[in-house]
Amino acid sequence: MSSDASGRSMKVLIVGGGGREHAIAWKVSQSSKVDKIYAAPGNAGIAEIAECVPIGVMEFDKLVAFAREKEIDLTVIGPDDPLVGGIVDAFEAAGLRVFGPRANAAILEGSKAFSKDLMKKYGIPTATYENFTDADAAMEYLKTAKMPIVLKADGLALGKGVLICNTLEEALAGVKEIMLDKHFGNAGNKMVIEEFMTGREVSALLFCDGTNIAPMTSAQDHKRAGDGDTGLNTGGMGTFSPSPFYTKEIEEFCIEKIYKPTMAAMRAEGRPFHGVMFVGLMLTPDGPKVLEYNARFGDPETQVVLPRMETDIVDVFEACIDGKLSDIDLKFDNGAAVCVVLASDGYPQKYEKGLPISGLDRFSDADGEYVFHAGTKFGADGAVLTNGGRVLGVVAKAGDLKAARAKAYKATEKISFANKYMRHDIGKAIDEA
Ligand code: AMP
Ligand code: GLY
Repeated sequence: MSSDASGRSMKVLIVGGGGREHAIAWKVSQSSKVDKIYAAPGNAGIAEIAECVPIGVMEFDKLVAFAREKEIDLTVIGPDDPLVGGIVDAFEAAGLRVFGPRANAAILEGSKAFSKDLMKKYGIPTATYENFTDADAAMEYLKTAKMPIVLKADGLALGKGVLICNTLEEALAGVKEIMLDKHFGNAGNKMVIEEFMTGREVSALLFCDGTNIAPMTSAQDHKRAGDGDTGLNTGGMGTFSPSPFYTKEIEEFCIEKIYKPTMAAMRAEGRPFHGVMFVGLMLTPDGPKVLEYNARFGDPETQVVLPRMETDIVDVFEACIDGKLSDIDLKFDNGAAVCVVLASDGYPQKYEKGLPISGLDRFSDADGEYVFHAGTKFGADGAVLTNGGRVLGVVAKAGDLKAARAKAYKATEKISFANKYMRHDIGKAIDEA
């Protein structure tokens, strides 16, 4: 480590290149400890605060070699694939400090069958279910099951491996799709069939140090492409934070009955969880239940949670690695934030890329307005171009949710690109709170 006059000395590498990683890089850039940020591969927005290097998130050897060469003090992993694939183990084996769960803990996201069995074994509230490795057995089971029913491919499937089936015919076709036709590849070698739950969804993100948890403020995602939760599932079209439905009482229940028991269960299984645990909750009429676990920050939840975080994130990352979270006083502001995703029209199916974006220079942190890049790149002339289905996350902070929503939608008007598409009802649910 070399230290400049300000005491900033750390070099941090962020692995990933989406909106989540832009928000993480931005928050890291606010740290009083950080001198230099690298991102692999990054994007055109991240490039404003970090040096981007063209290494893919699954190129573990190259990433480790890069971290060694540049004497990186801390590497932060954004996406699920490298975590499930063991990137943290690879960095640790090379003696490098890295934030995220090892493969044996990231399995909480990597295998839905594993996470369901864990919840059953430790009495953590979730939908009732059965696991299957055989399509015939799954189809037999469905014949006596109550509809609607939920089918889940076991492994990672870009958030798309979940089918909600209203009729037996749909469910049988779903089993064929997942297990026989392998629409989600090897993720479908196993599947979970589970009870359909109703209620409001909440995303809870927790910092974890192997033993202790520090819950972040809550958020809610909007997964469908169209207004009114219609259309296809996407990576997320917008978020708001906090969720007004996640009351103090509900949070207390979740901490005692879900979060702490999950941490203890992972420890007891010899899989201590260090990193961010994302608990997808359904607030059912019978109380909160787990929909899924992820082993990383949520996208686009991170874009509304981190701008509200007051604590230096590098201190928190270090505490998670060192088992010292109890030393951290994790703080969030009392306001609210809303993120509206600007996508390419046609997403999540066919859409055009490479279109110039204007208005990016009209955002300022000082106004409580942020634009986090999800899918952008530089054109030959240095112009910023669209480079994905989800292009940008426009985020606004304000004193309450309604004000944040109005401000975020107003801010979306500053940005132009030819096939700009967004939902118009992000955060509408807050009117019912
Ligand atoms: P997952 O990837 O497991 O979070 O599932 C994606 C989405 O499918 C969730 O955000 C829910 O909207 C829905 N979903 C998953 N499991 C269930 C369930 N058991 N009952 C109702 N909806 C579900
Ligand atoms: N927003 C949901 C996820 O990150 O999986």
